[in-house]
Amino acid sequence: MLNIVLFGPPGAGKGTQSEKLIAAFNLIHLSTGDLLRSEIAQQTTLGVKAKSLMDKGELVPDEVVIGMISSKLSENKQAQGFIFDGFPRTVPQAEALDQLLAEHGTSITCMLALEVDQEELTKRLLLRGKDSGRVDDQNEDIIRNRIKEYNNKTAPLKSFYSSQQKFYPVHGIGGVDDIFKALCAQIKVVYQAH
Ligand code: AP5
Ligand code: MG
Repeated sequence: MLNIVLFGPPGAGKGTQSEKLIAAFNLIHLSTGDLLRSEIAQQTTLGVKAKSLMDKGELVPDEVVIGMISSKLSENKQAQGFIFDGFPRTVPQAEALDQLLAEHGTSITCMLALEVDQEELTKRLLLRGKDSGRVDDQNEDIIRNRIKEYNNKTAPLKSFYSSQQKFYPVHGIGGVDDIFKALCAQIKVVYQAH
């Protein structure tokens, strides 16, 4: 199986590149942000609780997203692999993911980390905020808070995967297709090393 953690700060292009990677490698896309927004749209109890945190740019509790990923893994036992987008976002989430994948007889192949500076991230998110309807894209304070949460709680995962020799940084500024090519090239390198 090819199991990729597509990593990066808010607005790095995880969703954009996931769409292209799932088509190229026949993978299943698991985005906890998308799953949470779908709960919000259906006005479930979980969605109502998550919305107040997401709108402020804060992370939802680990057990909520771990539970979502766990059920998606069980629903997709025949998958050729997964792209984890926006998950894991904390060390406990990464540890839980390792354990869940082990229970399914598999493991993370690599973490591809899109590297984009804060100025570019803010520019992209404010631009999308004009018509996305995403509350967390609407103003610079919320975007700053999302980036702060990322720096405090999520960036440490680079060391987590680095210590497993699975961390691969990829330059995330430029054309979408050029970045996609760079990701594919990195995946090939990882495959050959296996
Ligand atoms: P989530 O939905 O994961 O959002 P995010 O990580 O903050 O960032 P985005 O999805 O906005 O960015 P992206 O990297 O996918 O980039 P995209 O391709 O969209 O999380 C939202 C919230 O849910 C969190 O704040 C938290 O509250 C909660 N949550 C989710 N997962 C959680 C977890 N595991 N634990 C706890 N809480 C969790 O691109 C962004 C924009 O840039 C788009 O407009 C795109 O068109 C544009 N763009 C893309 N590539 C380029 C390029 N190369 N050049 C120019 N523009 C580009
Ligand atoms: Mg996204």
